[in-house]
Amino acid sequence: MMETKIKSSQETLQRVSSISEMKKVSQTLRKQNLIIGFVPTMGCLHEGHLNLVKRSLENCDRTVVSIFVNPAQFGPNEDLDTYPRQLEIDIAKLEAIGVDILFHPTSEEMYPENYKTYVQVNDLTEHLCGKSRPGFFKGVSTVVLKLFNIVQPHNAYFGEKDWQQLAVIETLVKDLNLDVVINRVPIAREADGLAMSSRNRYLSPQERQAALSLSHSLKKARDKIRQGTTSAKEISHLIRQYLLEEKGAEIDYISICDPENFREKEQICDRTLIALAVKIGSSRLIDNCIIEDF
Ligand code: PAJ
Repeated sequence: MMETKIKSSQETLQRVSSISEMKKVSQTLRKQNLIIGFVPTMGCLHEGHLNLVKRSLENCDRTVVSIFVNPAQFGPNEDLDTYPRQLEIDIAKLEAIGVDILFHPTSEEMYPENYKTYVQVNDLTEHLCGKSRPGFFKGVSTVVLKLFNIVQPHNAYFGEKDWQQLAVIETLVKDLNLDVVINRVPIAREADGLAMSSRNRYLSPQERQAALSLSHSLKKARDKIRQGTTSAKEISHLIRQYLLEEKGAEIDYISICDPENFREKEQICDRTLIALAVKIGSSRLIDNCIIEDF
């Protein structure tokens, strides 16, 4: 028989900003044998984030969401200062779906003066986004490892929109023998196909229209592969042509590769990842799809 979940007496969102308090809260939950689910985010929450949160709420006794715009994963010319922040709106969204705990530390709390330690997952990070965003995955791995140590979750939830990030985190967990189960959640899209992203709000109406070229070109590629085209070069060309029809679209990469190790493929004949990064206006957007039904 399924055990009824024991919720805390206090049903409102508990906000925690200090590392020591977050650790204490998690230790107390663990002592009570409660399963902790964790969703790390950088805030500006949309349905994509909330899908991860809902998965955690369904499967765990307590759900912790972190909101932390992690300076370590932004390059010097990237959008750290302008990254959208809307803590109070995010809090209302988390309260509305019944999240138990919000962890929102400051940068000083996470990276005090004289902070020196970073973790790096090799090889996987040399491809795709790792090429154009040097240091990005080092920043992601470091903050995720720190957050895991602080929140001590049993389960953590990550989105397949950031396919490479997921692979890097799964490798980090395996290689460093961390006791956390990584759960993958499919990409959440707007009704017209655009992958949801906090960065979509930077887009002007024209750019928002142009941004559709990412998901549309992936769909075109999938259809062409279903019709029998197996040459990666041909599919890549098709995607490129489609994207370049949009004025102002600047392609960072189009990769047709192995979904586990990101090595480029010549032939699409078994499970394949098609991943794109395209700059629309000043926003760098990513999207991907898996081809597996041959
Ligand atoms: P952020 O971009 O806020 O995303 C937080 C989580 O939401 C990630 O796991 C991401 O893959 C997932 N997500 C975002 N958009 C999604 C969508 N459209 N569909 C499904 N999942 C989606 O990713 C980060 O933050 C950071 O790198 C972080 C892991 C928090 C480390 O700082």
